[in-house]
This record gives sequence, structure tokens and C-alpha cells, in this order.
Amino acid sequence: MKRYLVQTMGCQMNVHDSRRIEEVLAADGWRPTDEPALADLVVFNTCSVREKAEHKLMSALGTVRGLKEARRGVVIAVAGCVAQQEGERLLQKARFVDVVIGPDHVAELPALVARARGGAAPVARTVFDVHAPAFLDATPSPERLEVSAFVTVMKGCDERCTYCVVPYTRGPERYRPADAIVGEIRAMVEGGVREVTLLGQTVNSWIEPRPGATPADAPPRWSARLARTSEFAALLRRVAREVPDLARLRYTSPHPRHLTDALIEAHAELDVLARHVHLPVQSGSNRVLRRMLRRYTRELYLERVARLREAVPGLTLSTDIIVGFPGETDADLDETLSLVREAGFVAAFAFKYSPRPNTPSRALADDVPEDVKSARLDAVFDAVGATQRAHLASLVGTTQEVLVEGPSRTDPSRWTGRTRRNEIVHVEGADLAGAILDVVIERANDHSLMGRIARTARPAAPPAPHRLRVLA
Ligand code: SAH
Ligand code: SF4
Ligand code: F3S
Repeated sequence: MKRYLVQTMGCQMNVHDSRRIEEVLAADGWRPTDEPALADLVVFNTCSVREKAEHKLMSALGTVRGLKEARRGVVIAVAGCVAQQEGERLLQKARFVDVVIGPDHVAELPALVARARGGAAPVARTVFDVHAPAFLDATPSPERLEVSAFVTVMKGCDERCTYCVVPYTRGPERYRPADAIVGEIRAMVEGGVREVTLLGQTVNSWIEPRPGATPADAPPRWSARLARTSEFAALLRRVAREVPDLARLRYTSPHPRHLTDALIEAHAELDVLARHVHLPVQSGSNRVLRRMLRRYTRELYLERVARLREAVPGLTLSTDIIVGFPGETDADLDETLSLVREAGFVAAFAFKYSPRPNTPSRALADDVPEDVKSARLDAVFDAVGATQRAHLASLVGTTQEVLVEGPSRTDPSRWTGRTRRNEIVHVEGADLAGAILDVVIERANDHSLMGRIARTARPAAPPAPHRLRVLA
């Protein structure tokens, strides 16, 4: 039997791509293994968004080099963003790699692996499918039932933030037709999926693909203004209408300049939409935002957040933040910290800036010293941590509606799920995956809540009043 192992690094999009890689391999007769020594094929699905990506890949590759020497016929493949970025160069740098495939070539993997097993020369496939974009449908299998699944609505990115490698590793924006999106969600829900997260680098810039449609209406140069499209809001409405059995709908990551009034209205209207939005801000300083080419200001961001909160009382927000962008001063960092408090983020991914290949910000000196970057990162985590702890503590004693996703990773007697506002809740019980339960919150940890199943099966109580303002 042919056995494969996929190692995934990177974002949710890569996690999603790894599932598709597993599915195309399964359809070709491959079976999974966790044991590198048993694998006939090892696939590294790589990420290039921050520094040392290539370095990490080379050391991971080093660990499987021996496999190839020990057993003839083992195939090594590199997929994902480093594969796209490096292409043929990777084949020169690591001569034992057989297949390099960019994100648009997943469907070709089984054929390329078969050729490699037959003794063909190493090959790299990294051309973007700009003219005929393909989106692989998920093929849910009964062995791997998911409670919560991702559905791709677009790929690529046209924003071109100056620090970001993604436009170069994922290519220009291409959109998936609404019919295909709705069809995939319907099939998933029929197969037992309860929650869907629509996926795209700037997911809310989605438009129905049609001849002559303009992607993203990106202003050619810096200008902070809201996009005009409202098609993503229409897509959400259509999903809600046509897949009434879907319990929850999320999307990630929206770009703030595409957080249109129409999208805010959809949040107010649609019960199925989560009451949580992950809205990457990157910085609270207009000077830095401008140099990042984020195309919004601090004021625009906060105005959008205020409107969203008005439309959806109790909504929670999380974000991405970069510290130490070239030229960032202590005063800029203070602006970021004050924005963290003003926006009341209850979670954040924060990163130290690192220069990436091909990106415009490479031309700027990476002039914030490493120790200053570290201190700024700590300050951001402290600010978000304080908001998060206060928020979670405010929920003790309330009853929350929890969608259980699976057994807890740390404690096998517990199950883990999330509320509509994305708080993580651990609860005791048996076989709860996929259940939607009323849970009485008994304790707050730093990042999650503990609770017990409410005795009565009454509908979940409305969320506790949003208390983040207390901190602001
Ligand atoms: N498309 C998403 C984010 C994609 S990358 C969006 O625009 O929101 C995920 C996160 O990595 C970014 O939000 C950013 O915070 C971080 N990131 C991207 N490039 C980076 C770099 N060069 N250095 C440090 N962090 C970076
Ligand atoms: Fe990168 Fe900006 Fe595109 Fe996000 S919006 S993927 S940060 S270029
Ligand atoms: Fe990484 Fe590519 Fe995602 S660079 S963050 S895997 S889009």
C-alpha cells in the first residue's frame, strides 16, 4: 500500500490546502501515515509569510533526506507558498526534492508523484491559473467528519500591503462562482458539517466572477477609502437563505476597507453569522498604515468597528498586528496600543516585522532593533491579554450557546467548542461533537472558559453585556 505524510506550516488557507492534498492522494489510492519511516511520499505544505521560512523548510527537508537514502522510491514534494516563491530554485538547492508545486497545482500532485516514482526528473509547477481559476471541491469522507469546515471563496490578493509576500505566492485575486460556493456548503452540511468559515486573503472583496468584472477596485496609489462592492454581503445572504440547516457562518480574513455598510447590515440581519469578526488592523498609527499601504486610516478602522458593534451588540473582535515595521517609533506603538484598547480586541495574532522576498518594504531599512521589536510585541500581548481576561471573566455565571467541535487536546475527559462570539469553552461530557449546547460558564482561564451543560434545554441566553468599554 502507498502511504503518504503531509506536514503543514502556515495559515488556515494552507491547512485547507493540505486537506485537498490528502483528498487528491486518497482518490489515487494513497493512505495516510504519521510515521515518516513508513511514508512513500512526504509532502511539505509550506508558508513564507515571515522570516526563516526557507530555512525552516531546509531543516525539515534535512530530516527526510535519510528516508530517501534508506529506501528507494520515496518521493519528496514541496507545496505551498515557499514552493511557489522558490520554484525551480528549490530543485537546485535540495537535489533530493522530486516535486515542487504551487498552490494552484494541487490536483496535479498524484500524477507528478507517479511520474517521479517511475524515475522521471524532478519537476516544478508554479504558474498561476489566472485565465481558468480552479477551486477544488472538498470531498468529505465519513472517516474524517468535520463539525467546522472551511470553504474557499477567493484566492490570491490584490491589496499588496508593502510587507506582505502573499500577493507573490498566491497571485492575483480570483473568485469562485457563488453557485459553486453554495453547492459546496450544502454538500458539507448534508454530510454533517455545522459551521462553515468562508476563506480568502481579503475574503470580503469577493465578487461574482464574470467577464469584465474588476477585482477589488484597489485604488492605484495610497488613499484611505472604503470599497464600493457589496457582493460579499449578498453572498452571505444567499448562503443563509439557501442552506437553512447551516448552524453558523464565519469568514476570514476580511480587509477593513471592504467592510462596507452592506456587510454591516448583513451582520445585523443574519442570525447564522457569528458574532465575531477577525479584522486585521496591523497598526494603530496612520503614518505606519500609510507606509504599509493598508489603504485605511486608524479613524476609518475605528469608525467601521463602531458601526459593526452598533449593528451587532456584544460582537467580539480579534486582529493581526505587526510591530517593528521600518521606521516605527515608540509613539507609533502607543497609537497601536491605544487602538487595541479602543477597539477592545479579545484576541490578537501579533508578529515582529520581517522583510520578505519580492516585497516593496524590503527597500526600507529594517531599522527597529530586535530587542525593541520583542518589547513592543510583549506590550501588544499585554494589552490584548488584559482585554481578553476581563472579557472572559465577565462571562462567568452566564449561559452560553456552544457548538462542540471535538475532544479537548489537553484533557480527554473534556470537550471543546466555541460560542458564536468565538470564546473557547471546555465542557465535560461524552460524544458531544457537533452538539449545540447551553453551557453555564463556571470559570475563566486566560484564553478560554470552563463550564457545565445547563440542565434545561432552553434556548441560549442572550450574550452578557459587552464590558470591554470599561477598560478603554
Ligand atoms: N490576508 C490576511 C493576512 C495574511 S498574512 C490579511 O490581510 O488580513 C497573516 C498575517 O501575517 C498578517 O495579517 C500580518 O499581520 C502578518 N504578516 C504578513 N507579512 C508579515 C511580515 N513581513 N512580517 C511580519 N508579519 C507579517
Ligand atoms: Fe497580505 Fe495585505 Fe493581501 Fe493580507 S491584504 S494577504 S496582508 S497583501
Ligand atoms: Fe503563509 Fe502562504 Fe498562508 S505565505 S500565511 S501559507 S498564504
